Amino acid sequence: MSDPRTEAARRRTFAIISHPDAGKTTLTEKFLLYGGALTQEAGSVKAKGERRSATSDWMALEQQRGISITSTVLQFPYRDRVVNLLDTPGHRDFSEDTYRVLAAADAAVMVLDAAKGIEPQTLKLFEVCRERNIPLLTFINKWDRPGLEALSLIDDIERQIGVTQTPVTWPVGIAGEFRGVIDRTSGDFIRFSRTARGATEAPEEIVDAARAEEEEGEAWTTAAESVELFDEIGANHDQKTFLAGETSPMFFGSALTNFGVRLLLDTLVDLVPPPGPREDTAGVPRLIDDDFSGFVFKVQANMDPSHRDRIAFFRVMSGKFERGMNVTHQPTGKAFNTKYAHTVSGRDRETVEDAYPGDIVGLVNAADIRIGDSVYVGNEVEFPRIQPFAPEHFSVCRTTDAGRFKQFRKGISQLDEEGVVQVLRDQDLGDQAPVLGAVGPMQFEVAVHRLENEFGAPVELAPTSYKIARKTDLESAPTLRSMQGVDVLYRSDGTALALFESPYWLARIESEQPELVLDRLVAEGGAG
Ligand code: G4P
Repeated sequence: MSDPRTEAARRRTFAIISHPDAGKTTLTEKFLLYGGALTQEAGSVKAKGERRSATSDWMALEQQRGISITSTVLQFPYRDRVVNLLDTPGHRDFSEDTYRVLAAADAAVMVLDAAKGIEPQTLKLFEVCRERNIPLLTFINKWDRPGLEALSLIDDIERQIGVTQTPVTWPVGIAGEFRGVIDRTSGDFIRFSRTARGATEAPEEIVDAARAEEEEGEAWTTAAESVELFDEIGANHDQKTFLAGETSPMFFGSALTNFGVRLLLDTLVDLVPPPGPREDTAGVPRLIDDDFSGFVFKVQANMDPSHRDRIAFFRVMSGKFERGMNVTHQPTGKAFNTKYAHTVSGRDRETVEDAYPGDIVGLVNAADIRIGDSVYVGNEVEFPRIQPFAPEHFSVCRTTDAGRFKQFRKGISQLDEEGVVQVLRDQDLGDQAPVLGAVGPMQFEVAVHRLENEFGAPVELAPTSYKIARKTDLESAPTLRSMQGVDVLYRSDGTALALFESPYWLARIESEQPELVLDRLVAEGGAG
């Protein structure tokens, strides 16, 4: 019964991307409610004082709810499917972790605040989705309170990300006067009613068009006119363009009151593609029912002080994973046993007995495993690595205790391997005072804390004047190094990065010396 092909066909593995406060945590909780995975009624996920203090919003969620989810993935059955909802940590500050999670997703839901539309972090995450060809669905949240006009939200989204919106539902009533939505597939009006605090599923009444017009008056007519317009211009869902990332099914709702949550979840499990064959570095697809293979997208040490260890998370790419099986670590060719395969849930860990394509498994204390590594059984496979992202913040890091230099070095290389920060070294200075590069400044705080507490190496960070990085090569490096306001540093994978003090300076060099190699890095500055 449980062969990899059948099980993979049931899996829907996706992530929610959003700017902080757009409602990702609330929507996640409501998905759990609709998935029947909440042991208590849905309510406020986190106490106000504790907001975002936890490593993951989900940790707070599971502590309050007493449910078993991992802080990396949340798995629950819905209809005859199995949903794997990946956590993209919702810090105000970005870290590369958030980006890497998308390497394990088959689709993403972009949650926007109806009053704000596209915000900077949504844009950055979207950029990663585009880079990886991840299909995107759009959920306009908070329609229960005043916001922008529905049509101008479409304009805003299309202008900023260039993805055509194909509304699946359309709101009846302006933002703040939310009555329900037109379900464009049936043409019916779906009227929502509130439940106290959105603690239980929102009752839905299906009303045909004629009655809706009579009962809702102008709110209905206006909505119906917009829908006619979409029919005319052909803004309809098309699975092919959706999978190609050219169009995005769009929904309106309110996670707080549960309005539109069921429609979104139903459509997600219908439209998100099941895990499919993944190409290796040579472009050869690893088929779903091939032998087991997995791709490591996240490594985390000391997730919990009571378990001082290191967990490597992989997504199953093919075959069936069974705990205890011997798998090969592709980069080293070494075999290792997977007795300690877990899902990690706050403080508790649950053993995973088996997993299928699309599922996420954590391996405890698999010391050699790095982000981007492949693991397999049978025929060797190497999946393409995750590109490091363009750092946007740079600081020089030194230990303040010369006697602890060995610990400092060890710590720096561990943080580099985990991708906590990017470590950029000067060819002449080496490890004395490396420059740390980060996507968000919070990565620095984590690095300093861990260097001091885990490795016993107190450090100080000094700001640098670098603002922007480009990838260069060995030939261009000497010329660039000789220029004012430019430096060339090396990542541990050997990549040379040219750092510039100002984008204008960079633009000038680019136009005056076009022969110099200055390539853009992934997700730079967020915009496409
Ligand atoms: P995030 O994970 O994306 O950061 O957002 P989160 O779900 O924490 O939501 C941020 C705030 O927006 C919360 O309010 C939440 O209750 C509210 N919110 C989420 N969805 C909706 C919605 O559909 N309508 C309305 N009106 N509000 C919504 P808060 O006051 O910051 O926290 P809390 O006291 O409600 O927990």
